[in-house]
Amino acid sequence: MQRVFAPLPDGVYPANDTPAYRSSARRAPREPAVLAPHTASETLGPRPGAERLVAGLGDLTRPAGARGEALGQRLLVHGRVTDERGRPERRALVEVWQANAAGRYLHDGDRHDAPLDPNFTGRGAVLTDDDGRYEFLTIEPGVYPWGNHHNAWRPRHIHFSLFGAAWATRLVTQMYFPGDPTLPFDPIFMGIADVAARERLVSHFDLERTQPDYALAFRFDIVLRGALDTPWEAPA
Ligand SMILES: [Fe+2]
Repeated sequence: MQRVFAPLPDGVYPANDTPAYRSSARRAPREPAVLAPHTASETLGPRPGAERLVAGLGDLTRPAGARGEALGQRLLVHGRVTDERGRPERRALVEVWQANAAGRYLHDGDRHDAPLDPNFTGRGAVLTDDDGRYEFLTIEPGVYPWGNHHNAWRPRHIHFSLFGAAWATRLVTQMYFPGDPTLPFDPIFMGIADVAARERLVSHFDLERTQPDYALAFRFDIVLRGALDTPWEAPA
């Protein structure tokens, strides 16, 4: 049977053209969307998954080939991926990418005057388990400047890409950190009008999973499609 997704309330996803996020104006469609009903394969599968995984991508603090450990505050980032009815998304592909502790990406396009870390690539990928759970060991990303407007800084964040049961449950979003003072000034985060939806992008400090003398833990649960889903990042 074809899967039918619940409609989303207004304000959960950022508008395609979000004026405060300057470059979205260039990329936003100028014509109204054409509704194309999902096919069975788009909602039920198949999906990408294990074939894209490289072993060891759950630990970003010691990337393959590195001589040492990444610099920065160690973090265990974990959570549960469910569908809109709370059922676990099993073997969903969870990919992450992030800046290093100094706020610099390992990418040619990143011209930020901050040091690269030879022991940090900022890339991770894991599959969820039978209960929909995932976890990464990483380091706290730095805040970094960007050219959106004068004195613009992106809050600390980790980019997430998820594939649930099928293409239609693809999600690309960003995880933020509680109490980050730059959040209210970030047009990407603030581009989500619905305050409750915006808060679903902020992870929770998790003392229970914090590892004594080793790493802080943050929990970030994700819902794929439906009325309670995790908002997409502003359109790219
Ligand atoms: Fe980023």
